[in-house]
Amino acid sequence: MEGLKTALESRQVVVAALAAAAVATAGVAYLTWRTSRRQYVPVGHVSKIYVHPVKSCRGLEVGEAEVTKQGLRLEGVMDRHLLVLDEKDHFVTARTEPSMILITPRCVGNGQVRLEAPGMDPLNLPKPSTDGRVINVTIWDIEGEAVDCGPEAANWLEKYFGKPGFKLVMSAPGLKKRCPVNHTRYKGIATDKDKVGFQEYVAMHLMTESSLDDLNSRLTKPVAMRVFRPNVVVSGSDPLQEDGWQHVRIGKAEFRKMHPCNRCLITTVNPETGVKEGQEPLSTLRSYRLPEDETQKRLFGQAPLLGLMCGVEQEGSIHIGDIVYACV
Ligand SMILES: *[C@@H]1O[C@H](CO)[C@@H](O)[C@H](O)[C@H]1NC(C)=O
Ligand SMILES: *[C@@H]1O[C@H](CO)[C@@H](O)[C@H](O)[C@H]1NC(C)=O
Repeated sequence: MEGLKTALESRQVVVAALAAAAVATAGVAYLTWRTSRRQYVPVGHVSKIYVHPVKSCRGLEVGEAEVTKQGLRLEGVMDRHLLVLDEKDHFVTARTEPSMILITPRCVGNGQVRLEAPGMDPLNLPKPSTDGRVINVTIWDIEGEAVDCGPEAANWLEKYFGKPGFKLVMSAPGLKKRCPVNHTRYKGIATDKDKVGFQEYVAMHLMTESSLDDLNSRLTKPVAMRVFRPNVVVSGSDPLQEDGWQHVRIGKAEFRKMHPCNRCLITTVNPETGVKEGQEPLSTLRSYRLPEDETQKRLFGQAPLLGLMCGVEQEGSIHIGDIVYACV
């Protein structure tokens, strides 16, 4: 009897211990779930995906792409990891060379890019590598390294622009990336992990169809989505609803909003003709989207705001039609 009682008691102790352990495990799991699971709600679908292999050149509208910490990747080609420089190694964009918006980069496999442009023979660029002259490139006060793509690419650009002094550079794996962590606008917002090639500041740029429709309803001549050069476009949300999204999830990929996107003169270049056509849509945007609070005024001045600039928290592939979740 004595032995049986002890056995029963010890069994009860084991059961109690197991129960306690189960409660503790569930508690920890719940806390982990609460902190890691954001309260996401569906807000729409992915309607467009754009990859821009060369900064300020034509974007490729694609059906799917991989989200990486350093931006979108398409067939091994990264978003905005190729860049045009002038003779002083300053970066060149469609602000000063609007015709560059007609240069179309094609992905030809193995991470290689071919450039096509009106009146030009196509040019196959070298594979991403660190072979070649390394140049320090500064865009908006943020420095990174680039490697010169060589004389053939330089000659091609000079022929297209009809003047000397241009070269093409790339941000290959192994080179120092640009990190906005110490930039006035991104201090306390970006981290050491937010590293990019030649994107303005951060890896992802998100827009919504409804906010573009809303803008177009105020314009006499509607503009196309590609004018804004986003990476991901969401359909189905309310106009300007994205202002309140703090995190966005698409499939496994997760983005963190850092800032609204301050719009610049590039939006005034017609992406189909490569010609600057007056002040629209910028001046209409200014009529209802100027920075409002003091912080935004200090950071963005008189630049109107539309769309979101996001960092990447989780990588993953995204496809047209994927459900987009956001948490506010
Ligand atoms: C690039 O900048 C780093 C410091 O940021 C400097 O040490 C290096 O010499 C520079 N390289 C060139 C080629 O100017
Ligand atoms: C940012 O500033 C800190 C402190 O000066 C410095 O240690 C760090 O290297 C800087 N990071 C970048 C990416 O410039």
